[in-house]
Amino acid sequence: MTTSAPTATPTPTATPTPTPTPTATRIDPAILYWGTPVVLVSTLNEDGSANLAPISSAFWLGHTATLGFGLASHSLANLRRTGECVLNLPGPGQVDAVDRLALTTGAPQPNSWKLANGYRHVRDKFRHAGLIPADSDLVAPPRVAECPVAMEAQVRVVHVTDHALVQAEVVAVHVDPGLRVPGRPNRVDPDAWRPLIMSFQRFYGLGGEVHPSRLAGIDEEAYR
Ligand SMILES: Cc1cc2nc3c(=O)[nH]c(=O)nc-3n(C[C@H](O)[C@H](O)[C@H](O)COP(=O)(O)O)c2cc1C
Repeated sequence: MTTSAPTATPTPTATPTPTPTPTATRIDPAILYWGTPVVLVSTLNEDGSANLAPISSAFWLGHTATLGFGLASHSLANLRRTGECVLNLPGPGQVDAVDRLALTTGAPQPNSWKLANGYRHVRDKFRHAGLIPADSDLVAPPRVAECPVAMEAQVRVVHVTDHALVQAEVVAVHVDPGLRVPGRPNRVDPDAWRPLIMSFQRFYGLGGEVHPSRLAGIDEEAYR
């Protein structure tokens, strides 16, 4: 006769308590700028002249760009009035010009926070930065001729909280020919495209590729 071991009454498994990474320290940073591409946003002022402002709160989902602006931004006022912009992406080669635009605003009267932190009004920011405006195809604001990427965009939605989130549809994309994959008319070569990244208010470039990507097995055309 064979005997089987008595079956133990199952005890409920306790939900594991998540333990923090032992080396992690809880902190309370004033900003959460972990590293996003710098975008030079061109818009039109009320008198038809161009404004140009660096931002880095930007990402793309499909052909919709989501852009974050402080409520005092003159670009935001222009976007809400005109509904159009160009999202120019500088590379590391344009970092001097981007830095010249820092601490400037197209708003004739900068708010008290900006004044206290060294901002000043600059009317012609293309000239101030030493950048050249180039005509756009489908929107009125100009592109930045020196930027390797420029996306013409039309505002679809503006969400206002303590900041403004602008959703804009990209309607035309211009790229430096050196960024294109040979033989593929609509493909950008990620080995050639080097964005300028802002991390915690400082400028960085990208290093090379760090690992093969499973996601890259999906043909880009599948996303149309
Ligand atoms: C690299 C960089 C990134 C910035 N990112 C943002 C941003 O994401 N959103 C924002 O509102 N301001 C950002 N700023 C600050 C704006 O450039 C600043 O508010 C400026 O006055 C806006 O210009 P405007 O008032 O003519 O629109 C950034 C500045 C720099 C230099």
